[in-house]
Amino acid sequence: MSSTGQSAVTPRAFRATWGRSVHLFKSFLAEQSDPDRFYGDLAADSAAQVDDWHPLRGALLLDVGGGPGFFADAFERRGATYVALDADAGEMRLHGREPGPRTVLGSGTALPFPDDCFDVVYSSNVLEHVAQPWVMADEMVRVARPGGTVICSYTLWWGPWGGHETAPWHLAGGELAARRYHKRHHRPPKNVFGESLFPITAAAGIEWARECRSAEVIDIVPRYLPRGLAWTARVPGLREIACWNLMMVLRRRSVDGPD
Ligand SMILES: C[S@@+](CC[C@H](N)C(=O)[O-])C[C@H]1O[C@@H](n2cnc3c(N)ncnc32)[C@H](O)[C@@H]1O
Repeated sequence: MSSTGQSAVTPRAFRATWGRSVHLFKSFLAEQSDPDRFYGDLAADSAAQVDDWHPLRGALLLDVGGGPGFFADAFERRGATYVALDADAGEMRLHGREPGPRTVLGSGTALPFPDDCFDVVYSSNVLEHVAQPWVMADEMVRVARPGGTVICSYTLWWGPWGGHETAPWHLAGGELAARRYHKRHHRPPKNVFGESLFPITAAAGIEWARECRSAEVIDIVPRYLPRGLAWTARVPGLREIACWNLMMVLRRRSVDGPD
């Protein structure tokens, strides 16, 4: 039995090895040619990672910006009841997928759920697409139950993939990178700088997490990197470039902390 009292099959402890990072990177390189492989691998890896912080068997989980459902499969395989919310019905149907039975259309910045209702509130690669990311993060904390776990993971602007399909030119400026992409591909990028892609930093996320009175910070890690490189998330400046994607794990408090 776990410390949360769940008589779940004990999850295999998640191991952030170098082999796992190499595997994820290879899948990432296949994103365009084989999206099922990439999103399937990413979702399975993410569910294993989340399971380590909060046992998923029997947990009610909200995935904010869940996208096309690969995460639904992975979280449900581990025994969670999966609820997805996404702002874009088209995104839910990408790669030939259909939204699952507990899918809600809505915005992460105004979650249509009461306070304190989910065991786990999760978000993967969404905050960088939201103009007010910390409003969405506050909403995620609000709908987590006391003792519940909130996990926000986002792509860092100054990292190698910060500009998404316009990378690495975003490092010379988001607008310049978007113009360059448009010129070369004769169409604008899917992720439009200033509209659906924003220059989000680790510093801003960590500041939000530390100032959050309703939740305590449990862990802040570079999501895809091996455990041996976890220290990079503690070094201001370096973490913006080296971490690629920052994952922040918080536990909802029963009573708000001091100001
Ligand atoms: C890059 S996809 C990530 C999908 C999935 N979470 C993953 O990690 O593969 C970003 C998703 O966030 C959704 N999204 C963007 N802005 C949002 C908002 N304000 N509220 C909810 N979802 C949003 C998009 O529609 C899209 O499905």
